[in-house]
Amino acid sequence: MTTPDQLLQALQTEIEQNNYGDQPAELYEPIRYIMSLSGKRLRPLMTLMAAALYTDDWQKALKPAHAVEVFHNFTLMHDDIMDCAPLRRGQPTVHEKWNANIAILSGDVMLVRAYDLLLDVEGNHIKRVLTRFNDTAAAVCEGQQLDMNFETRWDVTEAEYLNMIRLKTSVLLGFALELGGIVAGADKEATTLLYQAGVSMGIGFQLKDDLLDVYGDPARFGKQVGGDIIANKKTFLLIEALERAKGLTRKQLDDWLDEKDFDKEEKVKTVTDIYDSLKIRTFTEQKITEHFDQGFDCLERLKVDPTRKKPLLSFVHQLVEREN
Ligand code: IPE
Ligand code: IPE
Ligand code: MG
Ligand code: MG
Ligand code: MG
Repeated sequence: MTTPDQLLQALQTEIEQNNYGDQPAELYEPIRYIMSLSGKRLRPLMTLMAAALYTDDWQKALKPAHAVEVFHNFTLMHDDIMDCAPLRRGQPTVHEKWNANIAILSGDVMLVRAYDLLLDVEGNHIKRVLTRFNDTAAAVCEGQQLDMNFETRWDVTEAEYLNMIRLKTSVLLGFALELGGIVAGADKEATTLLYQAGVSMGIGFQLKDDLLDVYGDPARFGKQVGGDIIANKKTFLLIEALERAKGLTRKQLDDWLDEKDFDKEEKVKTVTDIYDSLKIRTFTEQKITEHFDQGFDCLERLKVDPTRKKPLLSFVHQLVEREN
């Protein structure tokens, strides 16, 4: 049986050997830059692991898996402009290293290259894969717009938040698993379960991302800690804090959200102290476990030899514990 390390190695080789384009260099260099930074590669690994559940010929999922990673990196390039993020994977973001116009256009061509890579899917699956990919890509944009809309709203509910992160993050994890199943010839029941597993895990994954944005170790996280607090992002942590804070604490929180001219470090520290006083970290960790458990339930229900499932299950366990 193939090990996760072998899958990762094959994926890295597939990515390194690809030529996204050469001229003008300003268009393609940022793509090589972002693709070579050490991301976790979790989405393409999910595609390969899902394929490996059903076939020993998982190599046929390599280019589709690569497509998912290119699409993900495109969304990051644009997301970093939208979030005014200075750091990505421990390095300057593309719009900081070059400029926003370059990040927009390089991102655009990455989306096109993702389609090129998807064209590798066998003819009998291509229409289904493209339809599912297009649904996913549009949902990600919808989620990203809601994320931006929520920055200036104070009454975002937990249900609205969960819908927003389902769209911006989870559906892509769902698609990544489903894609592996489709390419490997799994039946409809299996691909539906794979999708559901990915969506549930994706919710847990984004909740953990929100948690790390506040409590991550800056040396390991690779992104600016506190970025969500600075931007008034309606994360699970903030929604929960707005719900639980009373009296003076609530007033203090409201004042910080209202403040236009502030010292970033001071805002991050004060809001984090408020989260601490309200035990927001514990509530978030409970929510993370809840959603990952739903994902594990779906994986349990897959009718596949348990030994074949082991690598995927242990990979997802690592995701729950991740620090970056
Ligand atoms: C970051 O995704 C964007 C989110 C959906 C939270 P990852 O945490 O998978 O980022 P990389 O690819 O490993 O850098
Ligand atoms: C981004 O969510 C999800 C997408 C890129 C679609 P975040 O804005 O929280 O992701 P990070 O924290 O910048 O990676
Ligand atoms: Mg961001
Ligand atoms: Mg964002
Ligand atoms: Mg984040």
